[in-house]
Amino acid sequence: MSTFKPKPQDEIVLDQDVYVLQQHPSAPNMVFAQAGKKGRVYKVIHKGHSSAFALKVFVERYRKSTMVDLTNLLASYAQMPGMEVCSREVIHAKGFGADVLKQFPELEYAVLMPWSTGRTWFDVITSKALIAPQVGIEIARRTAEILAGLEALTSAHCDISSGNLLIDVDTLKISLIDVEDMYSPKFLEPEGVPLGTDGYNHKQAREEGQWCAEGDRFSGAVIISEMLCWHNAEVREKASEDGSYFSPKEMQDRDSKHYQLMLDTLHKLDSLPSGINTALAENFRQAWESKSLSDCPDMNSWFSLLKQAAPVPFGTRLTDSEIKWPVIGWKAIPSSKPVPQNPITGFSKITAPQSGLSRAPRLFPVNGHNGRGTFEIGWFPVAGATGYEVSYHQQPDYSDDPVIIECDQPTLSIQNLEKGDYFFRVRAIDQNANGEWSKPLKIVVWRD
Ligand SMILES: Nc1ncnc2c1ncn2[C@@H]1O[C@H](COP(=O)(O)OP(=O)(O)O)[C@@H](O)[C@H]1O
Ligand SMILES: [Mg+2]
Repeated sequence: MSTFKPKPQDEIVLDQDVYVLQQHPSAPNMVFAQAGKKGRVYKVIHKGHSSAFALKVFVERYRKSTMVDLTNLLASYAQMPGMEVCSREVIHAKGFGADVLKQFPELEYAVLMPWSTGRTWFDVITSKALIAPQVGIEIARRTAEILAGLEALTSAHCDISSGNLLIDVDTLKISLIDVEDMYSPKFLEPEGVPLGTDGYNHKQAREEGQWCAEGDRFSGAVIISEMLCWHNAEVREKASEDGSYFSPKEMQDRDSKHYQLMLDTLHKLDSLPSGINTALAENFRQAWESKSLSDCPDMNSWFSLLKQAAPVPFGTRLTDSEIKWPVIGWKAIPSSKPVPQNPITGFSKITAPQSGLSRAPRLFPVNGHNGRGTFEIGWFPVAGATGYEVSYHQQPDYSDDPVIIECDQPTLSIQNLEKGDYFFRVRAIDQNANGEWSKPLKIVVWRD
């Protein structure tokens, strides 16, 4: 048994697939690892087909068998824009990647998910990178759209904060990460309810947690307002050193200078249709002065205001300023007492042993489809597969004749589909058998 202290170019094998640990973008001798509150996330590249993945290794106290069931529940969110990391596999002794646990037991319940390209809002804040007002509006609008989409499903991310939101610098695509504490009425309440992150949490959240359908309303209001105000040099200068604009002690204080400056900046936002700036400032005031999370404006109120702004031209970049990469050296993972399982809420069920083709592939959401019917689909490789069969239908109940394509890699390029709705499925194949079909992935081609 060894300790998981990987170096760049080290390889780990998960269900017969080899993943190569990547080097840090600003420290070539170090592995590309980003630390958070619950663990450490490594960038790995699949050796066969070069796709990038994030491997999140939890500190001991967050390694729980409940991760297996949660992963299956999260999968239904993966098709939503910005929620791609909900498409994931979890390493456990009776399933995916079981063999690696003999060598590295601390990889138990680690998750493998698509690598989201981009920089965290944390990196933008700490670099004090300049963003043009229209670009701030655009990323705020996209963030509001994702959060409003979640709230429409009675769901919430529950830890919206600068380290948990990535922005693709070239396309402005927003991705939420760190989804293990998400709320849905269908999920089990986590043992330690999320209290939010300093600089982003409501006083109710700090006391009772924010694991509820309104769990993003305050943190969402803060991060959206940060984006809307980031063009203002005074706002950038006054941001705390800890990756948020507000510091914890001034939260919801009406006399806070930071609060006054943010309200004032929102009021002065031009480049918006008339009256929207005042409405945005009023939304923020309501959230700041609210007694509870449910008193804060809902996420759709932000989105319906921001969608009235003119979108930035295609190809607009986030910033020309340098965004520094935080370098986090390896620290031994501190061991802590395992939290006893709650006999009522704790899962005892671990899914039945799975091997080879019994596991259905899981399709990744498609990134960057411009609606013209040319895109690439991909899925997690299945151990033991000699190839894959992809089929697509135009009827959601698969009653029409499918188009069937065989391929040996877990990716497939599709070109020039005609306008319409398509339902893709994939299954693994080997010499003797066909595996189970994946859940469908709907793709809409809406223009020629
Ligand atoms: N899927 C991903 N793609 C790219 N970077 C990621 C991904 N997931 C996490 N990260 C990076 O790792 C950091 C920590 O991950 P996170 O899931 O927030 O961990 P924690 O639960 O410990 O806060 C993030 O701030 C981000 O920089
Ligand atoms: Mg995090």
